Amino acid sequence: MAVDLLAVALPEPAAELSGPARELDTSLQGMLSRAAADGEFRGRFNSALVVHTNGQVPARRVALAGLGPGDRLDADAFRTAGGAVARKAREFGASVGWVVDPSLPLAPEEQARALVEGTLLGAYDPGLYKTNGARREIGRVVVIGEGLEGAVRHAARVSSWTNRARDLSNMPPNELTPQRLAARAEEIAFERAHLHAHALGLDEVRDLGMGAFAAVAQGSHNPPRLIIMRYDPPGARDDIVLGLVGKAITFDTGGISLKPGLYMEDMKGDMSGGGAVVEATGAVADLEVPLRVLSVVAATENMPGGGAYRPGDILHALNGKTIEVINTDAEGRLVLADALTYARQQGATHLLDLATLTGAMELALGDLYAGVYANDDEWRSAIVDAGEASGDHLWPFPLHPRYRRYIDSAFADMKNATVIRQASPTLAAAFLEEFAGGGPWAHIDLAGPAFFRFDRGDYLSQRGGTGYGVRLIVELAERLAK
Ligand code: BES
Ligand code: MN
Ligand code: ZN
Repeated sequence: MAVDLLAVALPEPAAELSGPARELDTSLQGMLSRAAADGEFRGRFNSALVVHTNGQVPARRVALAGLGPGDRLDADAFRTAGGAVARKAREFGASVGWVVDPSLPLAPEEQARALVEGTLLGAYDPGLYKTNGARREIGRVVVIGEGLEGAVRHAARVSSWTNRARDLSNMPPNELTPQRLAARAEEIAFERAHLHAHALGLDEVRDLGMGAFAAVAQGSHNPPRLIIMRYDPPGARDDIVLGLVGKAITFDTGGISLKPGLYMEDMKGDMSGGGAVVEATGAVADLEVPLRVLSVVAATENMPGGGAYRPGDILHALNGKTIEVINTDAEGRLVLADALTYARQQGATHLLDLATLTGAMELALGDLYAGVYANDDEWRSAIVDAGEASGDHLWPFPLHPRYRRYIDSAFADMKNATVIRQASPTLAAAFLEEFAGGGPWAHIDLAGPAFFRFDRGDYLSQRGGTGYGVRLIVELAERLAK
């Protein structure tokens, strides 16, 4: 199996080479150990050294990749080693072959999964619209070792779907309109057995009674779409329909409650929850996970204009409740409200919504963790555990009936925001809970990890969309299918 670059991951400090690195070093007459002794490679987190060989090993190049401190060799350390090599390998379009070290404290299949994921996610180039040549890419990724083929193939598939979700987040809002997102869902479903997709337009959602979703959409010239994907595979258990609900604001100006201009361009990423739901639904079908899934993605712009909804408007949601609009920039919870009700009406037993919902969640958790709320402890734990295993980290936040007063309105059943700035992510979750219906529901606020302004310093170092949620949903669906 010929590759252009053979890579090995090593913990810090890397003064003494061990395992496969040592074997390569012997073949290379001590070149690697000399580099390590001279401090060119220390095993640091997110670092890699590439050296050219002279045919002493069956690859043109060898790379050492840093895992960081030896007392924290988790899957993220391996993903990050993968990313560090990928960033070098894509400069010359190399194919990468990893050699796992069974003596490291992570099972070889887990190492393989993380290295492949980190390599493929780390190689991602957000420059979709650059005209100066092709996007930088790496060749294929393999892992050398017996019995790892399944883990490698699975990780490569999931990474590829994750990168497609990143493409959606990174596409500009003039191109990734609600219609275009719906077309992507239909394209995914068209190619796959047991998966169907369709989308409803403004008149249809109005006729159904989705007054909250329709209000957000009414100010835009680009028409909204309520995207529905159904995956109904043979052999699925009959007691679960996983209901995935995504916020897909293809551009959030704030509406009449206009946002300030600085970084407003990043609000093209406000469809990242919905984009992750679309691509993850494709991934679950692609991997033939035997679990029924119903995905509902509320796609619209949030624009100001003569037709836009206003602060003071009172909206009639699909579940019959009324909402006083305080702030048109709190639009995500409005579109989710009707999408959640619709998913329940259509038979979802377990609901999970993903939304870039509040700036305050990014302030709280930064770019690493998303926050999760739920009306059911067991459901929340299942989601947190799937997140931890997948690399999409989650931290639980509390719901409590006494937060309900934050959304009490003098004029309607509730309001969508307050001037008080306390616990704004929790206020949003308390609002969504009104639309969760009966049965387990969880809400993920991924405002921080969904779309990067800055490099995170690990395998997800690119500006823009991260595909957060795709890996988590696949992991969750696979666990539920068992
Ligand atoms: N899409 C934003 C939240 C957001 C902000 C996501 C920054 C990612 C980065 C959301 O629609 C919003 O505007 N939320 C407001 C709510 C407020 C008006 C109650 C917020 O968090 O400021
Ligand atoms: Mn907003
Ligand atoms: Zn928004």
